[in-house]
Amino acid sequence: MTTPAPPSEPPAPRPVSRPGTRPLGVAAIGYAFMGKAHSNAWRNVASFFDVPAFEQKVLVGRDAGAVAEAAAKYGWAESATDWRTVISRDDIDIVDICAPGWMHAEIAIAALEAGKHVLVEKPLANTLAEAELMTAAAAKARAKGIQSMIGFNYRRVPALALAKELIAEGRIGTVRHVRAAYLQDWLADAQAPMTWRLRKETAGSGALGDIASHAIDQVLFLLGDQVTEVSGRLSTFVNQRPGTDGPEDVTVDDAAWATLSLTSGAIASVEVSRLATGRKNSLQIEIYGDKGSLLFDLENLNELGFLDATLPVREQGFRRILVNEPEHPYLEAWWPQGHIIGWEHTFTHQVRDFLTAIKDGTAPSPSFEEGLNVQYVLNAVEESAANKSTLTVVRH
Ligand SMILES: NC(=O)c1ccc[n+]([C@@H]2O[C@H](COP(=O)([O-])OP(=O)(O)OC[C@H]3O[C@@H](n4cnc5c(N)ncnc54)[C@H](O)[C@@H]3O)[C@@H](O)[C@H]2O)c1
Repeated sequence: MTTPAPPSEPPAPRPVSRPGTRPLGVAAIGYAFMGKAHSNAWRNVASFFDVPAFEQKVLVGRDAGAVAEAAAKYGWAESATDWRTVISRDDIDIVDICAPGWMHAEIAIAALEAGKHVLVEKPLANTLAEAELMTAAAAKARAKGIQSMIGFNYRRVPALALAKELIAEGRIGTVRHVRAAYLQDWLADAQAPMTWRLRKETAGSGALGDIASHAIDQVLFLLGDQVTEVSGRLSTFVNQRPGTDGPEDVTVDDAAWATLSLTSGAIASVEVSRLATGRKNSLQIEIYGDKGSLLFDLENLNELGFLDATLPVREQGFRRILVNEPEHPYLEAWWPQGHIIGWEHTFTHQVRDFLTAIKDGTAPSPSFEEGLNVQYVLNAVEESAANKSTLTVVRH
């Protein structure tokens, strides 16, 4: 069922399409957290970046009233409650999946088979089997010019994109080890209620799939490397939480730890938690090479710490690069230098890169293959943790 949005909130004007072509029609599925973040990106991308013409056609959700309200607020022309009907429409060219992980495979595969370009939120899927099916569908679709991408939005933080450039240019030499910690505390309160994110059947895993997926993707993105070996540990600190009908079992991890061995010989440590009291959305990445080091903290996302160990020791020290110059990735499109940007801009960059890839007919990154690659690592962490490959400390 589709519902026109109330006339009081017309969709934002879009650039005029080239003569003889119509604007790309976009549908987004899910209108809550990511649905809102993505809608904001669709709504403002053309104001800052040169992108092909498109229209925010339909926003999809389950509750007709709530999704209609969201569609009107976020600039979508219509709302709908049945994603199947929407992806079969001829005027829809792009499907942006902002629904929970348990729906990713079904929607993405159906959309790709219907000839739609697909952007899907992370993690790629809840299970390896689903992720493999999605990747196969994406490869088949790509052969017909249909593009697909996974939403690891932190790749689009300018400071992290700059870090990748510096590493690739050899500015920190050979990378020896990396620390990637992603810490939140929204589950620190043992009385925080059950959500789909705490059930294995809906979320696949807990902090592991939710935020270690970002941290692992960053390690692979920054270093351009592959993981060869994994050692993992998972923990659930609060085993029951208040559900709608009384206490309910938590069936996913609250926190996860892993060490990753990489092809280059580098080692990465990954530490993630949703019970790290006081840490709201703290993604910290440190990269140590033989010629220098880089530091990043999402709470200061316009900054990158850089130590150049090729300088005389008496001059060395971490310098703070304010990643806000037109020379920096994505920044030319935004404000004059020093007028900093925020978390939501990463989604605008993501939509810009996706639209550009569609226009150019090139495969966007991170691809479903890259999402699957992360999924293999997540799976290995889970298996390692389940095998309890730990030794008891012996005291003599
Ligand atoms: N990139 C990031 O930083 C980031 C942050 C949070 C979440 N995510 C990912 O985004 C995805 C969604 O998470 P969220 O936090 O937005 O979840 P959410 O619970 O806030 O929203 C889920 C949305 O999916 C919709 N939905 C559920 N079932 C549906 C159905 N059958 N038909 C249509 N719509 C349906 C709901 O109506 C809701 O709008 C997940 O994969 C999550 O891991 C990514």
